[in-house]
Amino acid sequence: MATDLPQTWHYGIVARWWAEFNQGGPELDYFRRQIEANGQPALDVACGTSRLLLPLLRAGFDVDGCDISPDMLALCRRAAEREGLTPALYTQSMHELELPRRYRTLFVCGGFGLGSTREQDLEALLRIHDHLEPGGLLALHNEVPYSDARQWQHWLSEGRAKLPQPRRDPGERRQGSDGAEYELRARTVAFDPLSQRSTWAMQACMWRDGVLVAEEEHVLTMTHYFKDELVLMLERVGFAEVEVKGPHNDAVPTPDDDFLVFLARKAAA
Ligand SMILES: C[S@@+](CC[C@H](N)C(=O)[O-])C[C@H]1O[C@@H](n2cnc3c(N)ncnc32)[C@H](O)[C@@H]1O
Repeated sequence: MATDLPQTWHYGIVARWWAEFNQGGPELDYFRRQIEANGQPALDVACGTSRLLLPLLRAGFDVDGCDISPDMLALCRRAAEREGLTPALYTQSMHELELPRRYRTLFVCGGFGLGSTREQDLEALLRIHDHLEPGGLLALHNEVPYSDARQWQHWLSEGRAKLPQPRRDPGERRQGSDGAEYELRARTVAFDPLSQRSTWAMQACMWRDGVLVAEEEHVLTMTHYFKDELVLMLERVGFAEVEVKGPHNDAVPTPDDDFLVFLARKAAA
């Protein structure tokens, strides 16, 4: 069904998978340092199930979260409540961001360009800019389009001729803290180099006591942004300074970096 809502796969079993298995990572220290350097309050846009948000709250930072997926946010809230924490969490798509507070630091880790159109992505950057205090900073962590050799082949007509990829055979299951076993199987179904957009299908399965108790299929689209177009977009929505760094290291980016961090500062008043 055609819809204007961003098409993402972070629901149901996929959300549970994120809550169970996506923990830690080098991004946490990086964003912590950004908040320390730029100030609070901070907003974690596309916060998911709290991989970054919860450790930051635990460390005493004043951080709110928002995400398009109520399922991801429900698990985020549950994890926070288990520790006696009650963060302000908002179910919102970033292109419709409309929150009561303004922020010194706003960060997006792995959520930009997911499910949305280019127009929505530009609108999201505009809304993010509006939600920063004067002089505030956006830190946007984004994967480069050429990070994965298997995906890169889809930019060529020969590679696209092999799409959609077939459903994958069953693979490794992982056991969650709830005793259930989970498996996710993702495949690329389409790629359009004109819009730089890939479409993915995710088969998500859950077993209890060896019996398949739930199976879902979700679709995700993703727009792949190159470095300079994202810089131009950030400048276009009004950011005064835009710098691009390597992943979590504040270094000058290199062609071998799979992720880049865009640091965009709003003009001081
Ligand atoms: C790859 S996960 C990253 C979660 C979290 N930032 C982290 O690093 O653990 C992507 C998240 O982006 C959210 N998301 C996708 N499209 C979005 C949109 N248009 N607006 C807000 N959140 C979105 C998904 O629901 C999901 O929670």
